[in-house]
Amino acid sequence: MDTPVRAWHNLRMGLDELYREVILDHYAHPRNKGTLDDADISVEGANPLCGDELSIYVKLAGGRITDVAFVGRGCSISQASASMMTEQIKGKTLEEARHLTGQFKAMMHGEAVSEDALGDLVALQGVRKFPVRIKCATLSWVALEQGVDEFEATRAKVTATASSEGTPS
Ligand code: FES
Repeated sequence: MDTPVRAWHNLRMGLDELYREVILDHYAHPRNKGTLDDADISVEGANPLCGDELSIYVKLAGGRITDVAFVGRGCSISQASASMMTEQIKGKTLEEARHLTGQFKAMMHGEAVSEDALGDLVALQGVRKFPVRIKCATLSWVALEQGVDEFEATRAKVTATASSEGTPS
């Protein structure tokens, strides 16, 4: 019979194997790969350590992300993470997507987070063992965050301009 230590080790190995399969499945069959015409958010990200790049496209309606897609080239971790991200943020508000981004980045930096909301993304936590690869996993998320920031800054500027034009002088 397995000792508790061996049983834990076997469980851990099984989990690592499962996580590896999830990552490879997203890499081999990326979800939402492609571009979107008339995207509300269109942003590029690059990993300066390796030169890998990706672009993310987001469409919004009624305050929610109705569609999202990505294209790019890179390692299995960056591509799998982007694929998982597109699945997780579809249907969310920008605020919820921003919150999820924070949760994911916190997990990748070893902070305690609720895994329930992260779905397949928990498969990427093993990447923490290889600090240089953390940038691979966060590449798409950093780009998304930047795209959301730019979109909201533009929207705020348009709103400010519209209200100042509507103000009688
Ligand atoms: Fe380039 Fe991972 S090695 S993003």
